[in-house]
Amino acid sequence: MGESFRVLHFSDPHEPAKFESFRMLLDKRVIGFLNNRILRRTGRGGHEEIIGKAIERIFREKADLVLFTGDAVSCGQKTEFETAYEHFRPLVESTLPFLYIPGNHDLYVKDRDCQRAAEGFCLKMNRGKYALTDFPFVWENEKFRLLAVNTCRPMPPLLSNGFMDEKTREFLRTQCGKKDGKKVLCASHFPFSDPHPLLHLLHTLHGGKEAQTLLEEGKIDLLLCGHVHKPRARLDERGRGEVVAGSLTGCRALTRIDYDGEKDRFCVERLPLD
Ligand SMILES: [Fe+2]
Ligand SMILES: [Fe+2]
Repeated sequence: MGESFRVLHFSDPHEPAKFESFRMLLDKRVIGFLNNRILRRTGRGGHEEIIGKAIERIFREKADLVLFTGDAVSCGQKTEFETAYEHFRPLVESTLPFLYIPGNHDLYVKDRDCQRAAEGFCLKMNRGKYALTDFPFVWENEKFRLLAVNTCRPMPPLLSNGFMDEKTREFLRTQCGKKDGKKVLCASHFPFSDPHPLLHLLHTLHGGKEAQTLLEEGKIDLLLCGHVHKPRARLDERGRGEVVAGSLTGCRALTRIDYDGEKDRFCVERLPLD
């Protein structure tokens, strides 16, 4: 049991890819560009409008935390981050508790300018408090504890796997061993589970087995993640489990998570923005 609380969660808005420099032809940015512009729904218009609607709705709801689980951009480039930041600026400059976790498209390539832009974006989005090097870390209030992990790093072309390193596994082990009665939430870009691991060999999370076990054993009450653009929730009868927010701009919806302290239950709901 514990006190009731509310979290608003969204993910994967994917600021459309930009042709920033000819250097992008030399790495996987060219694939990301074509993928975003031709194949994905998130590359088609209405971007600013839907983020604006999401922020309006967030301001109307009362939440203990607003959580953004990454893929702010498409190819991890400076100009994409600049536009994305302008869209989210009202949220960042508000007094609402807000956290940003990086996605694999935010840490897309090893290019130095891209890496620097991703570092700057992460720090700005987290109001100067959390840099990429600060992950994993604990965010907490008097009601719950959220374990923020970074499961992303630049990958070679055609691969979109996530990685959970030993430092993060050790962090989760230690944090999940604490017995202070607070609910434990975890935020990661990559889901810990995959219903079709063989189909998604090039997209799954490596090193996440132990974290998945912590979730299955209930040591993590709820995992909030993104990466998969179609929303899904795998929850038990008390609402514990894994929530994939889906793409904010593709599915045009926020996810609202309410924990009812009296019933000791999580309730996960989609909030359409149209
Ligand atoms: Fe994504
Ligand atoms: Fe992703």
